[in-house]
Amino acid sequence: MTEGQPFDYSGRCVFVAGGTSGINLGIAHAYAKAGASVAVLSRSQEKVDKAVAELREYGGPVLGFSADVREFDDVAAALATARGEFGELDVLVSGAAGNFPAPITALSSNAFKSVIGIDLIGTFNVLRAGYEHLRKPGAAVINISAPQSSIPMQMQVHACSAKAGVDMLTQACAVEWGAAGVRVNAIIPGPITGTEGMARLAPTPEIEQIIIESVPLARYGSSQEIADCCLWLSSPMASYVTGALIPVDGGWCLGGAAQIFTEMRRRLENSRG
Ligand code: HXC
Ligand code: NAP
Repeated sequence: MTEGQPFDYSGRCVFVAGGTSGINLGIAHAYAKAGASVAVLSRSQEKVDKAVAELREYGGPVLGFSADVREFDDVAAALATARGEFGELDVLVSGAAGNFPAPITALSSNAFKSVIGIDLIGTFNVLRAGYEHLRKPGAAVINISAPQSSIPMQMQVHACSAKAGVDMLTQACAVEWGAAGVRVNAIIPGPITGTEGMARLAPTPEIEQIIIESVPLARYGSSQEIADCCLWLSSPMASYVTGALIPVDGGWCLGGAAQIFTEMRRRLENSRG
């Protein structure tokens, strides 16, 4: 929420997997600013330390963990520590992801496996290990998906496959955990400014401009706009929302996103001669 914070998360506990940069760090900031205790996890100790220092500026309790979401035991240990320090978790965000543009024939089996491992198995690990630490009833789980989950895109078979799995994982968990009072939803961000994802997928101003023109709202979104949706989604104002796959994308998934990587591939190949 850019002006006037309408959500109060004082006394609430939030864990953001992949929360040390980009969109996920923006989400962690929003919860910390709203008064929550916040824990973040990612591989790089340097990124973890930097994120923790930033988040402590809001004055609340902050924890940071260096771990790979592909390693179940490490993820489980971090979640157990966070619960021990903070108490039951009110919000669990799973947003760690890896991506790069590559046509299928340029992908090794290990490259495909890496992205499936981080995005899909990583999300399973975070949810599977996190469930026992969630407040029941009342907790909200939010997975960070992508337009690739439902839109087949050139050079994105790894991300498309992984994020399609994330969407189905979201809905299957919503079905299974609803009776315990745990809501599980996914946010599908559109192109978000200043992120590693867009730096990788739209590496030149020309491609960036093509993407902007393919968004009905004719601009990139911000990490704050994704965070705003999270604050609402994990609040009582969304108490009847579960299993939803919510685009926060300026309308990109309505059509513009479908062809964009076809055009991008053509331009990249032309520029390489
Ligand atoms: C082809 C590639 C490649 C590329 C890596 N690989 N980059 N193959 N084209 N550009 C291959 C490697 O050669 C290797 O295969 C395999 O992938 C694993 O590479 P590693 O570097 O060993 O993997 P790892 O250390 O696990 O790193 C994972 C990673 C990396 C995904 C490759 O880029 C990463 O850590 N990314 C995290 C940050 C990130 O991607 N953020 C953006 C998220 S955006 P071989 O066979 O050689 O062993 C996003 C969606 C945005 O998710 C949506 C926008 C609309
Ligand atoms: P980002 O800054 O690279 O964020 C990815 C985060 O995940 C980082 O904190 C990274 O830190 C962590 N991470 C990566 N691999 C990990 C692993 N194996 N284990 C633990 N942590 C790991 O990228 P972003 O562009 O902001 O994307 C964030 C999320 O939004 C992703 O889920 C992405 O798919 C989604 N999304 C992004 C866009 C966009 O426009 N950028 C659009 C749609 C969806 P470490 O490197 O320290 O591990």
